Amino acid sequence: MSTELSMYDLIFSNAIVIDGSGSSRYTADIAVQDGVIVEISEAGSLRGAKAKKVIDCLGLAVAPGFIDVHTHDDNAVLMTPLMEPKVSQGVTTVIVGNCGISLSPMIKAITPPDPLNLLGNEEAYRFPTFKAYGEEVERIRPNVNVGALIGHSTLRVNQMEKLDREATSDEIGKMIEQLREGLENGALGMSSGLAYPTAFESKTDEIVELARNLKEYQAIYTTHLRDEYAGILDAMDEAFETAKCAESPLIISHHKCAGPENWGRTQETLAAIDNAAEHIDVGMDCYPYIAGSSTLDLKQVKDNVEILITWSDAYPEMSNRYLRDIAQEWECSLMDAAKKLQPAGATYFIMSEEDVSRVLSHRLTMIGSDGLPHDPNPHPRLWGAFPRVLGHYSREEKLFSLEEAVHKMTGLSAKRFRLEKRGYISKGFHADLVIFNADTINDLATFENPKQAAVGIEHVIVNGEFAIEHGQLKESRSGKMIRRGE
Ligand code: ZN
Ligand code: CU
Repeated sequence: MSTELSMYDLIFSNAIVIDGSGSSRYTADIAVQDGVIVEISEAGSLRGAKAKKVIDCLGLAVAPGFIDVHTHDDNAVLMTPLMEPKVSQGVTTVIVGNCGISLSPMIKAITPPDPLNLLGNEEAYRFPTFKAYGEEVERIRPNVNVGALIGHSTLRVNQMEKLDREATSDEIGKMIEQLREGLENGALGMSSGLAYPTAFESKTDEIVELARNLKEYQAIYTTHLRDEYAGILDAMDEAFETAKCAESPLIISHHKCAGPENWGRTQETLAAIDNAAEHIDVGMDCYPYIAGSSTLDLKQVKDNVEILITWSDAYPEMSNRYLRDIAQEWECSLMDAAKKLQPAGATYFIMSEEDVSRVLSHRLTMIGSDGLPHDPNPHPRLWGAFPRVLGHYSREEKLFSLEEAVHKMTGLSAKRFRLEKRGYISKGFHADLVIFNADTINDLATFENPKQAAVGIEHVIVNGEFAIEHGQLKESRSGKMIRRGE
């Protein structure tokens, strides 16, 4: 009787439900109304119900929309609101402001120093407060939901003329004021990028003083460690210490052991994380590739690592070429070639497959793309990270079940970042959904040809509206600014 009376917006019938919790799949009919999942019942039970649209999902998986917990999409959601690289992968929520780099707040006109230039040029940094940034996201309404962190490097750029030193207590005080404005207006937490020149000279005390403000907002601390090479265990200790002093949850960003001399050491680092997890709330994110990417960092120019130049302001014609070949052509050392190319972007082949698989498999690991949307030759993770985990690592390599793979990109992520009523298929939850073919889903983006949408994604729903329908990009613009605890 009740179905006679209801008129739903959407019904997904005969769906193979992968609910985000990691538990086994089941089949069901799902009804959505006003952007919310209102009914989940036995497959076929909603056959007589009325709906504006009925989508037959026979043979298809229905999962919560993927949450990209590690992005640099702060400006991309405003400039390219359709967010094709992300929605085409099934991503319905992006967390921006990672690695110490956030677009807001910025109280002065700046030429963004490396790596703040990853988000855009001087015009991009136009939000004096976090509140103003959130309002702009709401005005633009991108195709994805946006949650945001406040970047430690961004705070330093606000308050310090030169960044090659530790901050004074006066400067830290002003940074705290800005951080608290962000937290007050819904920022999810604070990120740091201690390996970068904008933050490398900051001392642990500075980070701790800032991070101490997180607790009262139940916000989190994420960190791109000071060292992902030989000194990684010390760098992890610094992160554990910070989280302990701040009494706040910790996320280790894009966890890896970089450089051939450190391959295999994820056995040590994951053991250290397991140990720490007994005392502090710790998690990590990871992208499913053996190469990293960022601005061209001279510290990472080494003879035993292949480096692909993705862009160069000084020599644009050298983009998409290997540094080794450029150096040979210029008859100079790798370092001299790298210096000449600056400012530039690069992809570094610094990880081993064994380490990547080990980190991905860990129970505390979430999937985050770390994609770089403004790079003209972006690392393929920008378009491929999520389908690659589902297709290559789960289905082909059998690293973990489909249910576990989905959990790492939905339920686990929503819980860690405290995204209310997202990340699970459950009655009363927001209708962020992805409908895909588990037998065919895969990434197509490669290092040579990175701007390629994945295959196997049928529909993507954000707050009850189609961002992808039958594989086609739609302009639903139904994304929301997700404020902490909302
Ligand atoms: Zn990073
Ligand atoms: Cu990053």
